[in-house]
Amino acid sequence: MIDPWSSAILNYEKLIEEFGIKPFHDLLDDIKNPHILMRRGVIFGHRDYGRILKAMREKTKFSVVTGMMPSGKMHIGHKMVVDQLIWYQKKGAEIYIPIADMESYSARGINFSEAKRIAIDEYITNYIALGLDPDNDNLHIYLQSENKTVGDLAYKLAKKVNMNEMKSIYGFSGSTNIAHLYTPLIQVADILHPQLDELGGPKPTVVPVGPDQDPHIRLTRDIAERFSSQYNFISPSSTYHRFITGLTGGKMSSSKPKTAIFLSDSVEEAVGKLKSAKTGGRESLAEQQERGGVPEDCVVYEMLLYHLLHSDDELKKIYHECREGSIMCGECKTKAAEMMKNFFEEFQIKRENAKDKAKSIIN
Ligand code: TRP
Ligand code: SF4
Repeated sequence: MIDPWSSAILNYEKLIEEFGIKPFHDLLDDIKNPHILMRRGVIFGHRDYGRILKAMREKTKFSVVTGMMPSGKMHIGHKMVVDQLIWYQKKGAEIYIPIADMESYSARGINFSEAKRIAIDEYITNYIALGLDPDNDNLHIYLQSENKTVGDLAYKLAKKVNMNEMKSIYGFSGSTNIAHLYTPLIQVADILHPQLDELGGPKPTVVPVGPDQDPHIRLTRDIAERFSSQYNFISPSSTYHRFITGLTGGKMSSSKPKTAIFLSDSVEEAVGKLKSAKTGGRESLAEQQERGGVPEDCVVYEMLLYHLLHSDDELKKIYHECREGSIMCGECKTKAAEMMKNFFEEFQIKRENAKDKAKSIIN
């Protein structure tokens, strides 16, 4: 059972039941120093993660692949993926980060030079500033449009995928343009190409993503199977993380600035946004003292859980104080705002320092 103070898993039971994703918390005892997002139930599900555990335990090769679509600004929810990559980098994984410029072209109409600019100025800069080590040989960042190995593999794999299948997985129809239709195959190749002989041959691969990417994962696993005799692919594993709630209560989305704290926000902007975020507090102080707040419905609590508070004991304390009504939202927000301020002050310096390096990674 997962502790209530990290109740992240509850909403996703349905996904777990219907699609065969397995609960992640069952694995926790087998992981040495599990990532904070694993411990707290933010990473709630997986497919075939046992292979990754084995590779980490036996110190054999494994890869991590997770892409970024260069379509807009990075918000604090995107930080979660980077935090996981940093953890895997320290565990000795080969890290592959495709920049999905073909996807942003076909699905969002963003041209290739613009995608490259966004990738460098936003994504790669932030990834380095957040702590990914750009000088480690295990890091491979590339543009989909410039990676011939990936492009060629996608084409070869497309031979065993037909139109009916693409229609049923993605809802594509007769009017879907062919670039859009083809882009998922590029993603499949992103995930499988580290297993090609030229990159060291078959090895376990994990894809850490949000649940929206699961159709791609299922397609990739099916295709890996179809080509197993040709390439000996090991079916890729995946993990699924819960999305962070937007500041106004719905989804956090780069296209709706009011819902998001952007990594490029100034310290004042970020703190101001946190202070006006939706909480799980009650209508009146008296009611909150009597009935307690609802941390499960609180964006501020979520920010502490995902990003700001690294001590489990302190997080538990806030959870219980909130439930008991012994801490009020004003005080709690002030504490969280202080942590946010510290994070952003430091992060901005790191961002400045990362800018030049980011330019040299893809050129
Ligand atoms: N489709 C992903 C997104 O929308 C980006 C992506 C491209 C990706 N290639 C990938 C994700 C490979 C995981 C693995 O963000
Ligand atoms: Fe959220 Fe803190 Fe208010 Fe509880 S006291 S609802 S955790 S802001």
